[in-house]
Amino acid sequence: MVRVLFVCLGNICRSPTAEAVFSERVERAGLSESIEIDSAGTYGYHADEPPDARARQAAGVRGYDLSPLRARQVRVGDFERFDYVVAMDLGNRADLRRLSPDDRRDRVRMFVEFGNRFDVDEVPDPYSGTRGGFDYVLDLIEDCSDGLLAFLVSEHGLAPPER
Ligand code: 4NP
Repeated sequence: MVRVLFVCLGNICRSPTAEAVFSERVERAGLSESIEIDSAGTYGYHADEPPDARARQAAGVRGYDLSPLRARQVRVGDFERFDYVVAMDLGNRADLRRLSPDDRRDRVRMFVEFGNRFDVDEVPDPYSGTRGGFDYVLDLIEDCSDGLLAFLVSEHGLAPPER
């Protein structure tokens, strides 16, 4: 089992979107039994809340359902449980590196490392912006999800179970 945790600031916009989009890719590839997926925020303020209505709406247009998800804060145990702790922006990465035990810091990765179609440093925070920001975040997350899945399949030799 390979375990992936997506992390942003609030866990109500970017990381739940990444969780839903990447889960769809993993299911489509028949790899749900090989890859565990979760999301969390570095900031606990929105804990137990559903994703932001604008994120739910933008994702819904593309067929992703964010409504069952609930926010939670990152905990130190996440660095033990998850093989990949995937940051959305450079601030999230800095916070995660600070929180991480020394021997787990190499598990912290940037989501955009795995993207192909956009030359960007981060998945930007859409919270204070316009609806267009949520569509752009989805464009980035779809691209990075495709790349992350291809990377994990190759790196870990993943294949669907034989039925
Ligand atoms: P997220 O967006 O990190 O993508 O979930 C944000 C959500 C909430 C806040 C900031 C960003 N906030 O300041 O409450």
